Amino acid sequence: MEVKNICCIGAGYVGGPTMAVIAQKCPHINVTVVDINEKRIAAWNDKDLSKLPVYEPGLDKVVEEARGRNLFFSTAVDEAIDKADMIFISVNTPTKTYGKGKGMAADLKYIELCARQIARVSKSDKIVVEKSTLPVRTASAIKSILDNTGNGSDVKFQILSNPEFLAEGTAVEDLLAPDRVLVGGDTSTEEGKEAMEALVSVYANWVSRDHILTTNVWSSELSKLTANAFLAQRVSSINALSELCEKTGADVNEVARAIGMDSRIGPKFLKSSVGFGGSCFQKDILNLVYIAKTYGLNEVADYWEQVITMNDHQKRRFAHNIISTLFNTVSGKKIAFLGWAFKKDTNDTRESAAIYVADELLSEQSNVAVYDPKVSEEQIYADVDYLNTRSSEENREGITVYEDAYEACKDAHAIAILTEWDEFKTYDWKKLYDQMQKPAFLFDGRGLLNIEELEEIGFVCYKIGSGK
Ligand code: NAD
Ligand code: UGA
Repeated sequence: MEVKNICCIGAGYVGGPTMAVIAQKCPHINVTVVDINEKRIAAWNDKDLSKLPVYEPGLDKVVEEARGRNLFFSTAVDEAIDKADMIFISVNTPTKTYGKGKGMAADLKYIELCARQIARVSKSDKIVVEKSTLPVRTASAIKSILDNTGNGSDVKFQILSNPEFLAEGTAVEDLLAPDRVLVGGDTSTEEGKEAMEALVSVYANWVSRDHILTTNVWSSELSKLTANAFLAQRVSSINALSELCEKTGADVNEVARAIGMDSRIGPKFLKSSVGFGGSCFQKDILNLVYIAKTYGLNEVADYWEQVITMNDHQKRRFAHNIISTLFNTVSGKKIAFLGWAFKKDTNDTRESAAIYVADELLSEQSNVAVYDPKVSEEQIYADVDYLNTRSSEENREGITVYEDAYEACKDAHAIAILTEWDEFKTYDWKKLYDQMQKPAFLFDGRGLLNIEELEEIGFVCYKIGSGK
């Protein structure tokens, strides 16, 4: 079967870039991305490409090429479902904040709503693709909804799992040249195999077939959670060692280099940091832990939960180190944050370590001054408000957001690097030093800067994982 019309439900960090690249690479397929968030869709349709709701290097060019040709953003969800022969579900699957599984399980209410809507609207056969990250065996729940809540017409659905492995900040690059594409489906029936081949053919327009893996649907669902768990575990492992380095005089970057040259370990994802953030690592591990517990696999659950425990510790100890270094009080002191996003080259702040470090410092009555090249003031306040630690007014009193890094650092007692934005390396650090209170402290939570040079200027430096 040849796919002619694709609909993607969810125009977020995954749905938007993924569909933009599919549309760019498959001019013969019409791709409509729909969302219930009108503001988001309006931003995707904005003539000014700098206003796209997702900042990703290179994304503006892809959207510019395909939008209006065969890429459309719309709020008309029913219409797009009706027209499509393949429907991607790319809605959010956050951690549950209520009821059974609260704080651990994935909240599948948005997924269920999509499945019910597809069942209600569809008048012709559809291939439904799970693009969202889902607990293993979700496909059977989706199938049951699709098969049992329909509109009475004799429509057939095939469910595929096609998890997304892109990382933010490099989304376009990752989508154009993925390490692999994974397609899970019903390998036991002809219809299942045909549906898998239809999706494989879409990707085969630009990805070589030996990079497109096909598996049964459960392996595909579980591989996504496993990949994120392994990646996050590497960060927690190197972060655990960073604390030991600080105590022993070892340097975590040297240790990472030494172990990374072992081809069995490999050099990637060994950068010690103030803690991993992002919308997915924590939520997906918690989800994995919850699934393991559901099956009574307590040792498996405990093993993976430790990755989160370590990450929480890393964020907290960074904040506590600032407080103790500043003579055990930051009350009334200006602490400048360079960076708020959870990593460079994205405007996404979900679960960013900066939020938690700021929260600890605000509780100690510090004045936190934030500069981030891509994150809005509104977003920064929303992030701290979401924690519910104090009132919104108190957060606005405690945090000031700057559009200029030099202004943010002026008269500060300390600068903390929370995101590894390249531009921070190009600053005139002597100028920043001259404008600060003395002693001028610098806490590099990303191992980004040349500490020797900064110490020569006069800064008192702390670099994560450096024990000298
Ligand atoms: P997001 O919050 O940025 O986007 C989800 C969008 O879905 C929102 O705009 C929301 O309005 C929309 N939506 C929710 N319910 C809807 C409905 N019923 N109808 C229409 N629209 C609806 O989320 P995201 O970061 O794009 O993540 C989506 C999924 O992809 C998650 O499962 C996530 O785990 C997974 N994922 C994310 C990344 C990433 O880098 N962000 C990478 C790989 C996988
Ligand atoms: C991650 C995975 O890398 C993607 O493959 C996956 O698709 C995605 O999650 C998802 O499912 O959402 P992402 O969170 O966008 O992508 O970004 P990463 O590059 O993985 O970084 C995650 C966090 O770990 C960031 O805060 C980053 O600063 C931190 N990190 C990463 C480190 O502290 N050290 C490292 O060596 C690598």
